[in-house]
Amino acid sequence: MKNKLLLIMGIFISVTAFAQTTDYREKAKKLVSQMTLEEKASLCSGETAWSTQAIPRLGIPSIFMTDGPHGLRKAEGFDFANSVPATCFPTASALASSWNTALAQKMGEALAIESQANDVQILLGPGVNMKRSPLGGRNFEYFSEDPILAGKIATAFINGVQSQGVGTSMKHFAANNQEFERMSNSSNVDERTLNEIYFPAFEMAVKEAQPWTVMCSYNKLNGIYASENKYLLDDVLKKKWGFKGFVVSDWGAVNDRPLGVQAGLNLEMPSSGGLNNKKIIEAVKSGALAEATLDQIVIETLAVTLKAKDSHKNGIVVDKQKHNALARQVSGECIVLLKNENNILPLTTSVKKIAIVGAFAKTPRYQGSGSSQVKPTQVENAFDELQKLSKGASLTYAAGYTPEGATNETLIAEAVKNAKDAETVLVFAGLPGIYESEGYDRANMDMPEGHNKLIEAVAKANKNVVVVLMNGAAVSMPWKKDVLAIVEAYLGGQAGGGAIADVLTGKVNPSGKLSETFPMRLEDTPTAIDFPSKDSNANYGEGIYIGYRYYDKKKIEPNFPFGYGLSYTTFSYSDIQSNTVSAKDTDDIIISLKVKNTGKVAGKEVVELYVHEQATETSRPENELKHFEKIALNPGEEKTVSFHLTSRDFAYYSIASHDWTIKSGKFDIRVGASSRDLPLQQTIDIQSTKMNKIVYTRNTLFKEFKNAPNSESIYEQITKGFTGGNKKAVTEEEKKAEAFMQAMLADMPISKFTVMSGGKFTEENLQAVLKSANSN
Ligand code: BGC
Repeated sequence: MKNKLLLIMGIFISVTAFAQTTDYREKAKKLVSQMTLEEKASLCSGETAWSTQAIPRLGIPSIFMTDGPHGLRKAEGFDFANSVPATCFPTASALASSWNTALAQKMGEALAIESQANDVQILLGPGVNMKRSPLGGRNFEYFSEDPILAGKIATAFINGVQSQGVGTSMKHFAANNQEFERMSNSSNVDERTLNEIYFPAFEMAVKEAQPWTVMCSYNKLNGIYASENKYLLDDVLKKKWGFKGFVVSDWGAVNDRPLGVQAGLNLEMPSSGGLNNKKIIEAVKSGALAEATLDQIVIETLAVTLKAKDSHKNGIVVDKQKHNALARQVSGECIVLLKNENNILPLTTSVKKIAIVGAFAKTPRYQGSGSSQVKPTQVENAFDELQKLSKGASLTYAAGYTPEGATNETLIAEAVKNAKDAETVLVFAGLPGIYESEGYDRANMDMPEGHNKLIEAVAKANKNVVVVLMNGAAVSMPWKKDVLAIVEAYLGGQAGGGAIADVLTGKVNPSGKLSETFPMRLEDTPTAIDFPSKDSNANYGEGIYIGYRYYDKKKIEPNFPFGYGLSYTTFSYSDIQSNTVSAKDTDDIIISLKVKNTGKVAGKEVVELYVHEQATETSRPENELKHFEKIALNPGEEKTVSFHLTSRDFAYYSIASHDWTIKSGKFDIRVGASSRDLPLQQTIDIQSTKMNKIVYTRNTLFKEFKNAPNSESIYEQITKGFTGGNKKAVTEEEKKAEAFMQAMLADMPISKFTVMSGGKFTEENLQAVLKSANSN
């Protein structure tokens, strides 16, 4: 029910957005018809680093854009040291771990209010690229290794921002998955992989939220810069998905500006100082670029510009405390409890002596470096917040390591002494800022040696150790078995310290789940052999098998699987039901199941639904996430959760038909608490309505005639040269021989049979077979 409501709301928002865009397009059309060639070209690049060109003569305004996905970074030019103070929310890798679309929407609304208050029309985010490797330098800024999770969080975020009259810029389109040589590298990705892995998050958000702008990436896609890639910007984004906004270049991503106009790139940022405008004018004058193409590009930009300016609200004042409280709430939902032996967490009031170890407890790492870095309005640290929440306990503190992550005997000795004196030790560790940033990839999955040494030393001194991690992406944990609890707090934003205190003390019951696999070792990862690719070409050889799709297929045990996270309570899953067990791919399929809180405290559970295709003819992942819902349950409470499945949930992208395709057969719907914990299963027999549209040709493989009408007689005709006519296999020997023959012939194009049958299967027979197969 809730899903349906959200769907209807989503459609309503997109329809409204579309209607408005249409009106503004009409206005823009009229204005463009009054422009000189020079004026049109001037709208193809910005006026400054962050604003678009105005044309006062025609009343065309300038709009302002600024980073970024988890907070505002509004500055004069590039003077980011003096950017406006803004609420720093958790970064994307944290936000996706909340699996809470309603909260992502709320966060988007708050970001838009801050944008309105600062006269910003477009917020440069969210970043929805897939995490191809745990080493990707910007993984902290991206949602997930799974396109459905990333797409749903992005859609909610965009709807949230845009509901307040501020635009978004969904980025970086497309296949921008490594930082190394990010401005020149070519991501070489096959068509199926693009459509199943690297496109869907963009596609879903375009269709369901219509971001006002999309930012094209720096890299090339299959040899062509994204900023001049017609397939990407025009064929796919605008024509196939129906994107109604404008495409802006990533800052400095333009290579050949006239080619970009031709391909669908509307706006170059930052300003090229008139250089590229001249090239556009020359291209039009020489006939290399049609003026009508330029007109269309400018109309698209202008429509959004006019809408953005009209949507500005005066007199908005940000309630900083309220936004800080929201940031703390969001951060609390993002925290993932990875391990909790002996129920050491939450800390009980009987624990009176707590040793807090690790400099991050007082100087937290809470956001990543690069264009998304925000100047926070305030910063909460876990030490102070814990002190407020655990009044009866005495807290000691030892830094344990230097700001760079190194340690020495003195620092370790002090931490060990505190640990020995305490009942429970909380170690704060993770990745210092220099370890992960926009602009470069990580060298390995390790935390600094000083952090690991500190944990190991403290764990030898005290059995009750809890590790709290602050990092933007997966890390290895050589000390995992030596500690009782692990809390993954990610980069939790300015109120992250408070959110950690809330979770450690049980004020908030953790409900985050990993939006990325935590592998055991770097060598286990899908791109271990070549990441980042160093010869200007990143060949995506692992194809559709990234993240859990890879670990599942290879049966590799991860450190912690995708979708995993513990709670202070327990949940049971039961009673899976389906409205049908046999359906056409065009039918509505409703899956419902029950989830019960079987523990003693209230909690939230993320219910995850995956689809598994039983047939193995097409290479498909073991399980693919298709739906999820986060629900709140009081102790003993049980709720029914329903999911509405459509044909896309069963389909794979066929490179033969260049479209989504379903093969008739059985599909298992698997539901549970993580990608590796799916206790419920319901099998559904799906009849594909698309299969009948197959056109059989002389190059169709013999085995593919299996599903053709009259397949039995076709089989007999084709094989007569090999089996000696229509003789039916009767004896065991004959049956074996026939099975062997079928296996041998399965992969042959049927035209080969004319030659190989020694004249028994003639060209005329071939034509007759094709006619018969294509007759329905
Ligand atoms: C980043 C974008 C960012 C832009 C503007 C680029 O370097 O890749 O994500 O929005 O700068 O700061």
